[in-house]
Amino acid sequence: MNPFGVFHELQDYVGFGPADQAILRALHPGLAPDFPEVSELFYARILEYPPARAVLERGESSVGHLRHSLVAWMEGLFQGPWDENYVERRARIGRVHVRIGLPQHYMFGAMNLLRRELSARVSRLLAPESPEHFVAQNALSRMLDLELAIMLQTYREDLEAQKARTERMATFGQVVASIGHDLRNPLGVAESSVFLLEKRVGTDPGAKKHLQRIAEQIAVANGIVTSLLDLVRDRPMDPLPLALSEVVARAVDLVQRREGVKVDVRSLAGLRVLGDAAQLRQAFVNLVQNAVEACGETGSVTVEARMVDGKVEISVEDTGHGLDASVKARLFEPLITTKSKGVGLGLALVKRIAERHGGTIGHVTPPTQGARFILTLPGAPS
Ligand code: HEM
Repeated sequence: MNPFGVFHELQDYVGFGPADQAILRALHPGLAPDFPEVSELFYARILEYPPARAVLERGESSVGHLRHSLVAWMEGLFQGPWDENYVERRARIGRVHVRIGLPQHYMFGAMNLLRRELSARVSRLLAPESPEHFVAQNALSRMLDLELAIMLQTYREDLEAQKARTERMATFGQVVASIGHDLRNPLGVAESSVFLLEKRVGTDPGAKKHLQRIAEQIAVANGIVTSLLDLVRDRPMDPLPLALSEVVARAVDLVQRREGVKVDVRSLAGLRVLGDAAQLRQAFVNLVQNAVEACGETGSVTVEARMVDGKVEISVEDTGHGLDASVKARLFEPLITTKSKGVGLGLALVKRIAERHGGTIGHVTPPTQGARFILTLPGAPS
């Protein structure tokens, strides 16, 4: 069910109707002057508690900005209109929390604080024993229940999307492993036939050229099969302390690029990672090859790294046109590509390799127009 469906259903269940809406609107003028104070208390509580504070520091917004956002959130809470757009805006806020990895259980405590503070202020506005006070508290409580339901629904959406992704990957894995193995044999036969024919065509330049082309295409097909099989099976790892500069240099040597595209490798000296040399080389080949291709005829690719909390963070940035929003969301899934020639395995393989090393791969939008990928790997003592 989408967040609006959940909102609608719960609205009926808790009995939130036009009377509650009118009450919330009527409360707004009396409560609005207190919103900044409530917001202040809300973030003070988060900052006081180190694990919650850590989440706040992971986000991209400053606390000052968030205090304003929460005031605007309370403005909406009491003014509505509580329609489909309202629910979608709220769900978007929920998805921001999911994106920054805010654990779901924090939402209960956070909503409770808002409930307590707002309810105390309603009690200051209306005589506590009066019927108006009773219905006002009820309307507020119902609305906050609905808000919590929307927030929790965004967590559920995320879980379901993850589950669907895992299932897709499992099916993909089985199909790929079986087709991959079956393709190896005919490719092997074609390869041997090319080898035998090369000896027989003599000096005919046209025939030689065609045979060479066939051999190249067989190598491309073999490469695709290898990438597919690497993606779905756990190749044994041989983790060793490695000099990052050497792994990257070998990878850059293997990347094909146009003359107008420059690859600039910086600040890798002295950095060591713990990993499997062949797999990491493959990951860098894929990242740098993509970056080079994104540049088109001319441009540059910058590879640089730094140590962050015992991990090595390597950034690969290009001067291309950046990524389309629709692609960004599914960037590391297999078979997603923007290239006319690619099959979309490169980044999925990088993700797989990063995860097998206990690392991560992500995309950030750089201030320039291109794309920047950040690979994090465990550091090794130098
Ligand atoms: C009832 C509970 C909560 C409400 C109503 C709420 C409300 C909001 C709002 C309105 C935004 C702005 C979203 C946007 O930019 O569009 C936001 C973002 C954010 N919230 Fe919350 N929040 C709640 C709980 C929490 C808690 C408990 C934490 C941390 C422990 C938290 C951390 C953040 C962070 C870090 C962002 C900014 C993310 C970013 O811009 O990267 N929120 N929240």
